[in-house]
Amino acid sequence: MNKTVSVLVGTQWGDEGKGKIVDLLAENKDFVVRFQGGNNAGHTIIVNNKKYPLHLIPSGILNPKANCVIANGVILDLEVLVSEIEMFVKDGIKLRDRLFISDRCHLILPYHKALDIAYENARGKGKLGTTGRGIGPAYSDKASYNGIRIYELKDWDLFVEKFKFQTKIKNEILKTFKVAPININKELKKISELRKTVLPFVADTYQLLQKAIAQNKTILMEGAQAVMLDLDFSPYPYCTGSNTIPGMVNTGAGIPVQKIGNILGVVKAYTSKVGSGPFPTELIDKTGVGLQQKGAEFGTTTGRARRVGWLDLEAVKFACEVSGVTEIAITKIDILSGFPKIKVCVGYELPPSVIPASSSVIPAKAGIHIKKIPYSSCGYLELEKLTPIYKEFSGWDEDIMKVKNFKDLPKNCQDYVRFIEKFLGVPIKLISTGPKREEYIKII
Ligand code: GDP
Ligand code: IMO
Ligand code: MG
Repeated sequence: MNKTVSVLVGTQWGDEGKGKIVDLLAENKDFVVRFQGGNNAGHTIIVNNKKYPLHLIPSGILNPKANCVIANGVILDLEVLVSEIEMFVKDGIKLRDRLFISDRCHLILPYHKALDIAYENARGKGKLGTTGRGIGPAYSDKASYNGIRIYELKDWDLFVEKFKFQTKIKNEILKTFKVAPININKELKKISELRKTVLPFVADTYQLLQKAIAQNKTILMEGAQAVMLDLDFSPYPYCTGSNTIPGMVNTGAGIPVQKIGNILGVVKAYTSKVGSGPFPTELIDKTGVGLQQKGAEFGTTTGRARRVGWLDLEAVKFACEVSGVTEIAITKIDILSGFPKIKVCVGYELPPSVIPASSSVIPAKAGIHIKKIPYSSCGYLELEKLTPIYKEFSGWDEDIMKVKNFKDLPKNCQDYVRFIEKFLGVPIKLISTGPKREEYIKII
């Protein structure tokens, strides 16, 4: 059987540099497909010195041969979608007959954004740090049969009826949060304009992708967010509203799983995380500030400063295991140049004083080396108290952005990469050495 589908997933907490890798790989792909998430994603690609921060349109769009699909598992904010479409049209990038949006995609509507923000404000100090883009509320409406699909914009009168019904209910909820209600007529006017730009791209992407598979076309599935933000396999509730692991390509795009050939895990050479929740290797010292500044770790979507820390190999190992990762791309290794010592987390310890008497979650004794954290079933309360066990590497000073062969990397950098590969037991096929398309090393 021909397995022409590849899946790319982030193996940490997002922002691993997935967009850059997708753009690179898309040169040889017939289709690039987003299959989950919404505009909480921010995927940056830099081509010919121009930077594109993409939230919805797949990162393959700058490769003229690649068709781009936003499949049914994605939730859509029409305003963001239209502004991305307009950005590319202005730049002379052809979209018609190349960009296809599933008619089954659910919409993120104004009340979803208002509810997302209202819940966050109500949580106060316990806020989760969502992107405020309405992701959780829109996915919960989908699951509770209150969602509205993009297809429904085709019948305006029916859409208006459904929108009014939902907005009236949501306004009652907003009232309990003491938040101003959504102005139905004002929003409908906006949507009636936006739909004119969007509807020509709406298609039956299920059929389109089935046909592509039957014709042995190459398809790259562009994961958004990352495994450690998966709705099920993350320290809930510090997650996002969708499943982010490769199994989601089946429900999110209708791609049968046996068509998947390889699964590429993107691993940033250190860790970043946006929002609250456990982050065992977080650095809140001078080294952390240095990593954050040098790595320009500020959100593509919200502009928020990203929390940063050393590479947590136990977390990545779990991500590779649950996702079935078959090969790895390492990104942002250039950022580590100039750090005299570099650490990686290879296990954890739970101090005896903090282990709860009733803990059935961490199957290890206090104070001993925990080899494998069952992140999937782990309560965040225990995770927050773990102390990482580090292996330390000597750093390197050379600028490596222009290096094209693995053997030309500084010896200490090669050692770092080889250790990661050995620890994960998955081959590293690509090393990204800078944000631009041409800055990478291919390992054959
Ligand atoms: P994504 O969400 O996984 O696509 O990642 P983001 O685009 O949110 O964040 C990654 C950031 O790092 C972007 O600004 C990229 O341009 C940049 N980037 C990607 N790969 C590299 C790399 O190898 N080195 C450096 N220095 N920057 C990179
Ligand atoms: P990309 O695709 C990093 C995080 C948010 C928050 C949590 C829930 O660019 O890697 P949500 O708005 O989804 O309900 O927020 O998930 N988050 C991301 N963090 N990169 C992302 O996407 C993210 N998408 C969501 O910061 O902690
Ligand atoms: Mg991002």
